[in-house]
This record gives sequence, C-alpha cells and structure tokens, in this order.
Amino acid sequence: MNEVIRNLLERRTIRHYKEKQIAEEELQWILQAGLYASTAGGRQSPVMLVCQDKEINEQLGRINRAAFGQANSDGIHFVSQAQKSIADDDAIRSGFYGAPTVVTLFAPSSWLYGVNDCTSVAVNMTLAAWSLGIGSCYVSRAEETFASELGRKLMREAGIEEHYMAHVCLCLGYPDGETGVAKPRKEGRIKFVR
Ligand SMILES: Cc1cc2nc3c(=O)[nH]c(=O)nc-3n(C[C@H](O)[C@H](O)[C@H](O)COP(=O)(O)O)c2cc1C
Repeated sequence: MNEVIRNLLERRTIRHYKEKQIAEEELQWILQAGLYASTAGGRQSPVMLVCQDKEINEQLGRINRAAFGQANSDGIHFVSQAQKSIADDDAIRSGFYGAPTVVTLFAPSSWLYGVNDCTSVAVNMTLAAWSLGIGSCYVSRAEETFASELGRKLMREAGIEEHYMAHVCLCLGYPDGETGVAKPRKEGRIKFVR
C-alpha cells in the first residue's frame, strides 16, 4: 500500500480538538490542497472563509447545532463512539465541536455544481490535514449557519458576495483523545461490469 492510499484508509473524522491553534504552514498546505481540488468544468467555483476567531466559531457552531435538532440518542447507533457527533449526544452545544479553525466553503448559488465543488474541495482538505497530523470534520448545515445575521455580516466583511451560498463548514484542529476506528465496510457496495 502506498502512503496516499494509507492516508485515505486511515483518515477518521475528528471532533475532539486540542485548544492549540494549528500551525500556519500546515494551514496553508491544507488550503492549497483545497485550491487544487477537482471542480466541475474546472471553474474553481468555491471560495473559502477561514475563521480562527474562537468566539465567532463558537457562536456559528451553536447556530449550526440549533439547525440540526435532536440527537438520535438511542444509545446503540452511534455515528462515532470515540468522537461523538451532535447526532450522538444532545449535550454537545456546538456543531463545530470547539475546533480552533473552521473553513467555510461557498459557491455561487446559481451554479448547478456548487455543492459538489465545495465537497470536492473539502475532501482534499480533510486528506491533506490528516497527512499532516491534523484532524477535521466535514460539517453540514452551512447554508443555515451563514443565513444567520452573524453569518451574513461575516460574508459582507470578508467581501463574499451575497449571491454566494455556504455549502460546507470544515473544522480543523489537532486531535485530542482517542481517534476511533473505521466502521466495518458494508458488503455488496461494489458491482462490476467487465
Ligand atoms: C456529506 C457529509 C456531511 C457530514 N455532516 C456532518 C455533520 O454535520 N456533523 C458531523 O459531526 N459530521 C458530519 N460528517 C462526518 C461523518 O459523520 C463521518 O464522515 C462519518 O461518520 C464517517 O466517519 P469517518 O469520516 O471517520 O470515516 C459529514 C460527512 C459527510 C461526507
């Protein structure tokens, strides 16, 4: 197995982060990996907003959490036992899990492949992050989070035009505690025509 494949197989979503901010050089590599992601038509539609303001990330994370609703909390079907998600535990108050860095990906709302492009960028970034020892979590409900008054204010201040829509929030930080292991892969998900 080569190093790239190993990184792909070993990457896990991280939701417990150390307080320490990620190193600037590592952040720049992660952003660069995002810039080089595949995008529909090669249009490079996504724009990134990097937020390292603790208070703002906490406020946006709470807005994000509120947009989710209740956790499943049946105590059996965990998203992750080691790195519990808001779907696992109602006591988690921020959908950003206290991550020191959150990168939100926006694309023009009129662009048919905006969600796909932002996802493509996010995936590149999660893998680059893992290869550098940095944990990440792909977070949904970016649309609702940035439709808030605070979200719209941040967009204005950052010069992100109103017709852009947030599609993914990517949490980044050094992993804290147990990483967890991948769930067993479901059978029968690969079909061949040969
Ligand atoms: C499209 C998509 C949306 C996701 N949304 C969330 C989310 O809102 N909150 C969260 O904690 N994790 C979210 N995740 C992370 C998944 O829960 C995680 O990838 C999954 O449980 C598998 O774990 P792994 O990444 O460690 O393999 C999302 C992942 C994807 C691909």
